[in-house]
Amino acid sequence: MKIGIIGSGNMGRALGVRLAAVGHDVMFGARRPEQSQAAVERVSGGAQAGSNDEAAAFGEVLVWTMREPDPAAVLANPALLDGKVVIEINNRDYANEARAGVWFEKAIAERLQDNAPAARVVKAFNTIAMESFDTTPEALRESSAQTFVAGGDGDAKAAVAKLAGDLGFQAVDVGSGPAAFRGVEALGDVIRIIMIDAGRGGRAHLSLNTLPEPNLQSVGAREASTYR
Ligand SMILES: NC(=O)c1ccc[n+]([C@@H]2O[C@H](COP(=O)([O-])OP(=O)(O)OC[C@H]3O[C@@H](n4cnc5c(N)ncnc54)[C@H](OP(=O)(O)O)[C@@H]3O)[C@@H](O)[C@H]2O)c1
Repeated sequence: MKIGIIGSGNMGRALGVRLAAVGHDVMFGARRPEQSQAAVERVSGGAQAGSNDEAAAFGEVLVWTMREPDPAAVLANPALLDGKVVIEINNRDYANEARAGVWFEKAIAERLQDNAPAARVVKAFNTIAMESFDTTPEALRESSAQTFVAGGDGDAKAAVAKLAGDLGFQAVDVGSGPAAFRGVEALGDVIRIIMIDAGRGGRAHLSLNTLPEPNLQSVGAREASTYR
């Protein structure tokens, strides 16, 4: 699949290098040509470097790696996102926002989708530290590594789940709409607090487990409640 990386910093480089390694056709975009070129040099099987607009034009699937949710602030031609699957991988700047008590009402993915209504925005990969992409897909599968995905377009989410699977991650569908986007963004806060503030480091990973079926004999069945 043709993949355009919009912004080739740490996450853009790591995702692009790994997607190329598992056989995808990748163009790294950046506002500084030396950054996209440096990413290409890490790909043994070949990839392309270009501007962010060139990468957006190239990819069937785009990876949006900057917190800026306004395509017009990043691309000369924001219409290049129309019809494309756009994987939004960002986390908010919790160090400066949450700790300072600032909280955007809308998630980055919501704001990107509002600004680019014809794009097929899927939130994914934000809970995974860039170092994890150094792990082989086989080892990630053995660890049952997961990524949480949210978005309103089922086919776009399926395409992202397939890409995640190629990299070794099982996709957990969190649903669609503002709550799903905000929830997955909040998981990014949780894992970074665990990694950084609680000192667990970049190998800490969030995944969903399903417990055995309860028989509820000890605690009783759930009763009608005021709360959800
Ligand atoms: N690093 C991780 O382990 C990790 C894991 C999960 C999620 N995330 C999230 O992923 C996002 C990117 O993180 P990162 O570590 O990759 O950061 P990074 O290394 O700083 O890369 C950010 C990229 O975005 C570009 N950029 C920023 N603002 C731009 C703008 N207005 N127009 C064009 N390009 C712009 C930067 O270009 P310049 O270099 O030219 O400024 C750079 O290529 C963040 O939201 C982060 O929270 C990171």
